[in-house]
Amino acid sequence: MKQYNVAIVGATGAVGNKMREVLEERNFPVENLRLLASARSVGKKLSFKGEDISVEELKENSFVGIDIALFSAGATISRKFCPIAAKAGAIVVDNSSAWRMDKEVPLVVPEVNPDAIKRHKGIIANPNCSTIQMVVVLKPLHNVAKIKRIVVSTYQAVSGKGLKAVEELKLQSKALLEGAEPEIKVFPHRIGFNILPQIDDFLPNGYTKEEIKMIQETKKIMEDDSIKMTATTIRVPVFNCHSESVNIETEKKLSPDSAREILSKSPGVIVLDEPASCKYPLPSIADGKDECFVGRIREDESIENGLNLWIVADNIRKGAATNAVQIAEIVIKSLQ
Ligand code: A2P
Repeated sequence: MKQYNVAIVGATGAVGNKMREVLEERNFPVENLRLLASARSVGKKLSFKGEDISVEELKENSFVGIDIALFSAGATISRKFCPIAAKAGAIVVDNSSAWRMDKEVPLVVPEVNPDAIKRHKGIIANPNCSTIQMVVVLKPLHNVAKIKRIVVSTYQAVSGKGLKAVEELKLQSKALLEGAEPEIKVFPHRIGFNILPQIDDFLPNGYTKEEIKMIQETKKIMEDDSIKMTATTIRVPVFNCHSESVNIETEKKLSPDSAREILSKSPGVIVLDEPASCKYPLPSIADGKDECFVGRIREDESIENGLNLWIVADNIRKGAATNAVQIAEIVIKSLQ
């Protein structure tokens, strides 16, 4: 099998570290792995397939000889360096928000719209973590019953904001349990034993950028602008895995039983829905897994054709690293 030279940009971060792990776990055909981060991380060693690889500083010439570049160092870095990597001949899978809504850039969830990859011009975007887990579950229902409207509220883990945020939740929880004053650095308020109704900055219409990302990205990935949607995105004091309460209104009637039946056969979905024995998706169950878990499926009795669902997934794996590597796997199939 042909082997590829792969680069991870942001290799020392929460998602970058997971990308390296997932490449190894899925036995991605890597010839050479280049790990790129800021000058602060130069000299750091990270292991891949039993070998220590030194982290290098991201520079304009970092992509010479690279076939696949996985980016996860934030939108500012991606805006500048993705085109540089693509120009050097790499196919880029970008985990930031920089290119997601660009008309020339496919926005891909492999279980939902794998064919969009064919239209790439060097850059392919990985969607927002909260969007990915929702569309993996909703697309199979949309195919059968056509979703007219989505109302989603998220309960997002701190890992989505990076390693510093994970550390902040640990330190604040410890301080609060010891009766000390917690230090606030990463979030606008204390996250320890608290809930924040803000993810990313506010826009003039009162929504946050995270909420608008979810709405716009869902329509692009599902390839249906007619879907009406509203979102409220919330940060909760959970280390890893995002949860979502999702309400859908469909054109065709879909019973909870038929939704369960459809979802139990859908790729990347695990139905966990036995309320009588307290079985439903939880962050502690989804942690470390690649599937999107769905449960609490029930009729919305306030409208004619409506369902409520509870969706949980590992935001660092399926919401970021795994989805990016799955895209790269489809890309290399087309190169063989
Ligand atoms: P570094 O560790 O050297 O700062 P997280 O999302 O977990 O905070 O991770 C962000 C990732 O983006 C890290 O790998 C970080 O590297 C990387 N990064 C941040 N700023 C830069 C930069 N200016 N150039 C290259 N990589 C960067």
